[in-house]
Amino acid sequence: MGTGRARIAASVLDADLSNLAHAVRRVQTAGADRIHLDVMDAHFVPNLTFGAKTIAAIRRRTELPLDAHLMVSEPGRYIQEYLDAGCDSITVHVEIDEPIEPTLRAIRAAGRAAGLAVKPATPISALEPYAGLLDIVMIMTVEPGFGGQSFMLDVLREKAGDARTLLEAHKAYGGEIHVDGGINRETAEDAGATGVDILIVGSALFVKGRDMGREVRLIRSLADEGFQYGLNGGVPPIPRDRMVRFASLPKHLAQRLSVDIERTGIPVVMLRGDGQINPDGVRDYDLLVPATVEASVEATHAGRREALLGEADAWRRSFSA
Ligand code: DX5
Ligand code: ZN
Repeated sequence: MGTGRARIAASVLDADLSNLAHAVRRVQTAGADRIHLDVMDAHFVPNLTFGAKTIAAIRRRTELPLDAHLMVSEPGRYIQEYLDAGCDSITVHVEIDEPIEPTLRAIRAAGRAAGLAVKPATPISALEPYAGLLDIVMIMTVEPGFGGQSFMLDVLREKAGDARTLLEAHKAYGGEIHVDGGINRETAEDAGATGVDILIVGSALFVKGRDMGREVRLIRSLADEGFQYGLNGGVPPIPRDRMVRFASLPKHLAQRLSVDIERTGIPVVMLRGDGQINPDGVRDYDLLVPATVEASVEATHAGRREALLGEADAWRRSFSA
């Protein structure tokens, strides 16, 4: 699995609902990181899906985290059922007419992650009264109700930064931004560039004839690539596997520097280089570090390198003498 930041939550809304166990097995085998469960009540949205009993049945079929997305008008009435069903996170909509705070508190009191979702027209500022109770902000990039609609990139771009600020104000670590609706191989890169944590993918996984595992990996890596480009101001980022030479030293000194650098958590590759031949007949060794951390290695270890270069000179002189 890649080292990128985006994780995939598979929505089984567009699966064959007469065989949910099979759908759950498929998304799990395909390497999805979570399962996203769209609960609809034919009132908050013009569609009806499944409820807590179905989620409890799914719970018995998989170890994957279950994220419940409740598109219902009165989640408060049923929240205990969803908790008992074994949801790992529960997200409700901020646009509902009942008090939201008790529901969020109940979710957190049960030790699960609590989320609020916003429809495309609802600003992130609507979440401010609940900011301190949120583990998840779910940004909807389609109108809730159906799978297979078109992705609204402008909505995500406008909200992703605000959502992050809101979460970070009280959760330095572990807050999640979920993006829900219209994520597929065409939209994943742009979505990833906004730095969201969880991409919810529904219909794109259930296209007949498509290899679901490949689709999961493709969407995840496209999102990560978008994120890397975004971090780098739109310029192609340094490939993460490129190594650059940091120092050339006689073997015994190269080994010492290598240990020092690795102690700071940075991997070092030591190779016999094409540098100078020492009086003992052995060429200097090269120390290579990942290009992505070259600057920080330079800042931390340049002084040590200079000292060892001095030692190398002294060693060569004493050897020749
Ligand atoms: C829409 C649901 C989404 C939907 C995503 O109301 O909340 O989770 O299933 O499906 P796609 O990926 O097809 O937009
Ligand atoms: Zn959803």
